[in-house]
Formats: sequence, structure tokens, C-alpha cells
Amino acid sequence: MGALGRPRRSCLAVPGSSVKMLGKAQGLPADQVFLDIEDAVAPLAKPEARKNIVAALNDGGWGDKVRVVRVNDLTTPWTYRDVIEVVEGAGANLDAIMLPKVQNAAQVQWLDMLLTQIEKTVGLPVGGIGIEAQIENAAGLVNVDAIAAASPRVETIIFGPADFMASINMKSLVVGQLIPEYPADPYHYILMRILMAARMHDLQAIDGPFLQIRDVDGFTEVAKRSAALGFDGKWVLHPGQIDAANEVYSPSQADYDHAELILDAYEYYTSEKGGKLGAVMLGDEMIDEASRKMALVVAGKGRAAGMSRTSSFTPPDKG
Ligand code: GLV
Ligand code: MG
Repeated sequence: MGALGRPRRSCLAVPGSSVKMLGKAQGLPADQVFLDIEDAVAPLAKPEARKNIVAALNDGGWGDKVRVVRVNDLTTPWTYRDVIEVVEGAGANLDAIMLPKVQNAAQVQWLDMLLTQIEKTVGLPVGGIGIEAQIENAAGLVNVDAIAAASPRVETIIFGPADFMASINMKSLVVGQLIPEYPADPYHYILMRILMAARMHDLQAIDGPFLQIRDVDGFTEVAKRSAALGFDGKWVLHPGQIDAANEVYSPSQADYDHAELILDAYEYYTSEKGGKLGAVMLGDEMIDEASRKMALVVAGKGRAAGMSRTSSFTPPDKG
């Protein structure tokens, strides 16, 4: 699924150990849910979490949410059992497996092959289950291009800021916080690096969690930084963050209307009737083919988010 595929503006983390939260998440307006067997679940609770997740996927009503399960990373002994139990048990009701702390392409290829084996065994379409790759350490970031290219199943590249900051010894305890001693945004390089790899392979780029769940203004401020770069969405850890994410990662109504206007106007002006013009003034703005491409991005995000336009293009009266 490409960068303009199913919306993933808000990706809700749901601990697989909590039957209550697995139930509640189904009714929340997040674009995606990821049911977690990794860091939100204690080691002793992981076997139970796998079972809870299979039951919730098969019996729950998830609407048109993207349904993802986050398994444990490949340095642990749990990963293969997570994948086998969840996909054998609920593969028909699952869109993707999220692999955290990915370090290289081989880890993604391992998951791809295991998924293929399970799909063949249980009679699911081969290649139907996607992969979400979470970048959470220096090795993952350095290898992000190869990770993005490792399998046609990869749909998203996700930034995992908490683990990432720990792995590179970044001196902050608040995810997303700018560091007073350092004048630039320390996340900028990481986000851009992930974004380039994602776009090169037509994948979605997803920003990770903001842990101060009661501080919705703080969440919004941090989300706006990755949204401005072009990220498609962000994790949400609490229902209170969902509306903010859905808003920040959708175009504003004015930008959406303007993008649709440019598309209509450019189609008209480049046509025989409009004078076969390749560069033209639209109000005070010069538009050309590159404007159409920029407008397509904004219009695509708006359409995927179900927005409707509030204005239309009227061709000039040539008298
Ligand atoms: C998410 O998994 C993170 O480490 O930020
Ligand atoms: Mg993490």
C-alpha cells in the first residue's frame, strides 16, 4: 500500500494483555490499531496476550481500521511464536505485522518467509499480510533503505523515538522535546532519513509515540513537526490523542480546497479549450506541472481522509 493508501493518521497502541482495552479500542475513531505483544506487555503476560489478540481479531468489530499486531523483536526468543500463533489463529482478520527494533533487511526477509509459510499452510493469499518496520536504533536507521526495499510486504516505516533515544544515548527523557543546549531539532535528521527511505519505495512514514498522554497540546506540537515534513500519521497511546492526530495529519480545509482548485484549473488551462497553457496565473499564484504534483499530494491526503471540497473551479468567461 503506497503513501496515498489507507489513512494511518492515528495509530492506536493497545496492550494485548488487556482484554478491556482490546474491547474498548474497537469503538475508537483511530485509523489504525496495533495490538501489542512487545514493550507494553510484561514477559510473563506475553503468552496470554497472544491468545487475547487472536480472540479480539476474530471476534471483534474493527470497522475499516487497519489491524496490526506488534510482535517482539528478533533479539528475543518470542518473535517466531508471536507470528505463528497470531497469523495461524487470526491471519484472515489481520492486515499487517509490525516488527519492532528492525536492524537490517534480513530480519524483514525472515518475517516475509515465515508469513509466506503460514499463509500457504492455512490457505490465505500469499503476500496478503503486510509488514510495518519500526526503526528504533542506529543500525536500523543506517540500514533503512535496505529495510524499506527488503520485501514487497513492507507498507510503513515507523520511527520509535523512545527506544531510539535510549539507543543513541540522547540526553532527554521526554520524547519529542527539543534540547535547550542544542539549537537545532535533534529529531529532524532521523525523521527526514526515514521519510526519504519510505518515499523512495512508496511506503507510508509514521511518527512514533508521545508519552505525556495528558498533554494534548504537547502532542499536537510534536506531531506538527513530522506532519509538516510529510509524515502520514503518528502513534496514539490514549483516546485523548486520536482527534489531534487525525486533524494534524489531514490537510486543513482551506489547503484541501486549494489543492482541488489547482487540479481543476490546471486541467482546464492545459486543455485545448483552456488554451493549452503549461504555466498560468491562478489568482496571485503561478501554477505549472510541479504545482499539480504538489496539489495531488494534498488532495490525495484529503480524499483518503474523506474530506469534501467546499469550493469549485469556474473557467474564466472568455466573452
Ligand atoms: C516505540 O516503540 C518507541 O520506542 O518509541
Ligand atoms: Mg519501542
